[in-house]
Amino acid sequence: MANIYNNLNLIDLNDFPVNWWTGLLDKAHDIMSDPAAYSESCKGKIMGTLFYEPSTRTQMSFQTAMLRLGGTIIGFDNPATSSVAKGENIKDTTKIVSGYADIMVMRHPVAGSVKAAALTADCPVINAGDGGHLHPTQTLTDLLTLREEKGTLENLCIGFCGDLKNGRTVHSLIKAMSCFKGTSFVLISTPELSLPAYVKTFLSASGHSYKEVSSLDDAVGMLDVLYMTRIQRERFSSPEEYEKQKGCYILDNKKMAKAKDSMIVLHPLPRVDEIAIEVDDDPRAMYFKQAKYGMYVRMALILTMLEESTMKVPLITGRAYKHQICSNPLCITHKETYLPHYFRGDSTMLECEYCDERTLVE
Ligand code: NCD
Repeated sequence: MANIYNNLNLIDLNDFPVNWWTGLLDKAHDIMSDPAAYSESCKGKIMGTLFYEPSTRTQMSFQTAMLRLGGTIIGFDNPATSSVAKGENIKDTTKIVSGYADIMVMRHPVAGSVKAAALTADCPVINAGDGGHLHPTQTLTDLLTLREEKGTLENLCIGFCGDLKNGRTVHSLIKAMSCFKGTSFVLISTPELSLPAYVKTFLSASGHSYKEVSSLDDAVGMLDVLYMTRIQRERFSSPEEYEKQKGCYILDNKKMAKAKDSMIVLHPLPRVDEIAIEVDDDPRAMYFKQAKYGMYVRMALILTMLEESTMKVPLITGRAYKHQICSNPLCITHKETYLPHYFRGDSTMLECEYCDERTLVE
């Protein structure tokens, strides 16, 4: 089947070549050095922000980015006050808003939902987080922070700590860092919260080495970057399951004393208890600065996507199957049942085009 295209959408950073991402980081660097020069770059343009799930940084940094580029914003951050509360499906809501706006940013609690929206949207769509799946614009934020603060994206030893199973920022950043030379990955989690199989498969296929460990104490000394994450309470199947994992990793000054002087600490935020407040005063704590980098890289992204709106990136590369269903119960195809079931792959193993989980052919 031929590839399916719609507008230029950002669903997964790995759909784009690495030089496209680094071009965005260059543009963000230019914007940071002279923001006034860009203050009218998106004059007359409208961005729609559809946040079906809570957000502080992502939503506000996108909105501020558009306002700082001279554009305007529409949208909702509480689906209960929109027609979603009346039972409207994703297709209808996003179809309508994409007819009002020039570019749309969407966050949703279900994996694959933003790709589902992009299939029928009339303007470019940016994934601001789809369930426990991906979060490409947080990754752009993380990459900009790494490049500005470490001076390079190569040969870094990066430790990911916390909820590697449900943390979409972790999945996106691992996929991105596996495209850079010499990255070594240390995956620090409990067995219950380890990385999903599809991300491990991606990592192995990239040829990079990775270690899975359970002790932050033992790992911290070898790292150039420590990426802390919160345990994602809202993605657990029951409160009891969350209680078992809660508080399993806490970074404090005692652990920081074992780290290299040059190590930096990143966190997509919000923090719950996984970084003690005392660490905030350590010059290696980079998470607040990281959130500010997020605004600049989103300015670069909005500008680039509006300028390059004729660039073609396929949305679907596999084909539709009539009877095959995705093995992931948290995939959007189980919630919005009108969606065509698209899969990539061969005759035995298929990968869902929405959530990337692997399914055996029925
Ligand atoms: C993250 C998210 O929403 O995935 N936050 C963010 O966008 N900065 C991380 C989280 O919620 O833990």
